Amino acid sequence: MNILVTGGAGYIGSHTCVALLEAGHTVIVADNLCNSKAETIDKIKQITNKEVTFYKIDVTDEVALEVVFATHKIDGVIHFAGLKAVGESVENPLEYYYNNLVSTMVLSKLCKKYNVNKFVFSSSATVYGDNKVPFVETMNLLPTTNPYGETKAMSERILTDIAKVNPDFSVALLRYFNPVGAHESGVIGEAPNGIPNNLMPYITKVAKGELDKLRIFGNDYLTVDGTGVRDYIHVVDLAEGHVAALDKLTAGVHIYNLGTGEGTSVLQLVKAFEEANNIEVPYEIVERRTGDIASCYADVRKARNEIGWTAKRGIVEMCRDAWRFEKNHK
Ligand code: NAD
Ligand code: UD1
Repeated sequence: MNILVTGGAGYIGSHTCVALLEAGHTVIVADNLCNSKAETIDKIKQITNKEVTFYKIDVTDEVALEVVFATHKIDGVIHFAGLKAVGESVENPLEYYYNNLVSTMVLSKLCKKYNVNKFVFSSSATVYGDNKVPFVETMNLLPTTNPYGETKAMSERILTDIAKVNPDFSVALLRYFNPVGAHESGVIGEAPNGIPNNLMPYITKVAKGELDKLRIFGNDYLTVDGTGVRDYIHVVDLAEGHVAALDKLTAGVHIYNLGTGEGTSVLQLVKAFEEANNIEVPYEIVERRTGDIASCYADVRKARNEIGWTAKRGIVEMCRDAWRFEKNHK
């Protein structure tokens, strides 16, 4: 299939482009590079030895995006393009609502006009809010504590409503748990701008000596050792989940958790990283971070039963591959 990947130069998008190309699909990327670099497109080509068509455009720009739809016979879209920094979304709500919602609406509009009926959307486990773990797709969603999370819940609703009145429209809402790691080549990975907000990129910067120590946000949660528990998923497994969802997509709306089903605490992840890479990660315990929940992990049965996908890579591979990329990355 010819797949339009919005945000394909980004962290999850680039790994998914590799997985799509390896599965024999053709990839067209639309990305405005607001949080990524054009050289990532070359790296995707380098890893796969395949061609990628790249448009440096903003997905909220309907006129620019229509050129892509008019030029290529697109069979399906995967919509990664979006802003994702939770703290920034609290500071700048309008920018987040505009970018994340208008991009989803413009893309849906053009899908309708050009009769593109397969739509895969990047959602997040954040839409479950502070529900009881493990999170199951059938749960009622709880309000999130920030505009970023709200854009995910709202985009899910917009796509669901569109599908209700368009019987041919097939939508997969993929709720990611915590993507970490990198392609095993060490060529592509996660390279956030500035000081990372998320745990794994922070750990790799500390290991590299660029930050002096990790600050662990709270050790008084009701968890195995008091630190926050998350379901970390290797980004290559996550990428393969998109290919599986696309291949199996049928009319209607299908929601899938993409996680491993295993919870890992902050301290467990730090220890696993130290052991996998034989390197020390100094840390201190500080106050809880506002908006954090104690535990978040997936019930993964639905993706396994319906699209035949399960995560294969464990915490050791996640730590090893994250570190390999960080060491290679200037
Ligand atoms: P990323 O920032 O690395 O990638 C997003 C890409 O979209 C970037 O290349 C950016 O330049 C591009 N982009 C943003 N707005 C755009 C626009 N209006 N037009 C064109 N391009 C635009 O982020 P990521 O981690 O790869 O996340 C991809 C998607 O998955 C996002 O929608 C994010 O919200 C969602 N998600 C990510 C995580 C995570 O932990 N990384 C978790 C849950 C959901
Ligand atoms: C965060 C976002 C969530 C988003 C997800 C994507 C918040 C409040 N939530 O979730 O909306 O979908 O990223 O991956 O930002 N930790 C530390 N020290 C650090 C960084 C993190 O102790 O320097 C802890 C956190 O308290 C948490 C765990 O590590 O227990 C994971 O944190 P993080 O990587 O930021 O992800 P989430 O909080 O799950």
